[in-house]
Amino acid sequence: MTHFLDIHTTDPADLRQMIDHAATMKSARQDRPKGAADDEQPLAGRMVALIFEKPSTRTRVSFDLGVRQMGGETMVLSGSDMQLGHGETIGDTARVLSRYVDLIMLRTFDEAVLHEMADNATVPVINGLTDRSHPCQIMADVMTYEEHRGPIADAQVTWCGDGNNVFSSFLHAAGQFGFDVTFSGPQTLDPDAEYLRYGREKGRKVRIERDPAAAVTGADLVVTDTWISMHDSQSARERRHNQLRPYQVNAELMRHAKPDALFMHCLPAHRGEEVTSEVMDGRQSVVFDEAENRLHAQKAILRWCLGV
Ligand code: CP
Ligand code: NVA
Repeated sequence: MTHFLDIHTTDPADLRQMIDHAATMKSARQDRPKGAADDEQPLAGRMVALIFEKPSTRTRVSFDLGVRQMGGETMVLSGSDMQLGHGETIGDTARVLSRYVDLIMLRTFDEAVLHEMADNATVPVINGLTDRSHPCQIMADVMTYEEHRGPIADAQVTWCGDGNNVFSSFLHAAGQFGFDVTFSGPQTLDPDAEYLRYGREKGRKVRIERDPAAAVTGADLVVTDTWISMHDSQSARERRHNQLRPYQVNAELMRHAKPDALFMHCLPAHRGEEVTSEVMDGRQSVVFDEAENRLHAQKAILRWCLGV
């Protein structure tokens, strides 16, 4: 079964092929209306379940649209409306869904749920975000970087803020696509130690630099994300904001990066918190390209999973 669960557990040659395929599919439908079918219809006759246990705008709409452009159909399901949210086991849910649909995309909390779904499904499973990673986002981000700047190999990526699930997938991608990563944030919000080690074991420079200006110096790409993720308790809100304020990406901080450095954010953004509107809407920002490329990257992931 060809699941897409994480970037570090997927063959690097396959990852490269997916990024290139996504770019080809994107250019093939330049200027077409969004709802128009692709020339190729590799998902004709296929049904895809999109299950959300957390809110989503981009993941929901881009997967749904991508499947339709390729001739397939989708069912968008909310975890809380399913028996899954009322005591049915994940294993049984996986076995049942495998009788109805050809692929399952799941956004959930604990990554153990994703793995249990994948272990019990007889159809491919795609990770649409867990508390620990967000691989589809970083595939779109790699595609976006390369669209603007060419190969990401050996680029310097600096992350400012919370060492969260999205950053973990950046660490995975650093190992697989061969770029270097600097994390800048408070020690209490340090990234996953296992994934820091992973990046280093893959031979990449993976640094922690508490001073954001020093961290951003020489960066080709500056990235941030919300200070409070969907799995975080809101009770720590004020403390987190105080801790993270020095890591806000603003015009002054961007001045330390290379003059042509790009700025990325997976969105949704909290303008005035982790990033200022000046940076979000500035010339270096590619945040809406990232959002668009979720569509194209995920179409390539879907095709890879289904072998079509
Ligand atoms: N970036 C991202 O995954 O956005 P959504 O939460 O809107 O899906
Ligand atoms: N880190 C964020 C990403 C949202 C797409 C979260 O998990 O809420």
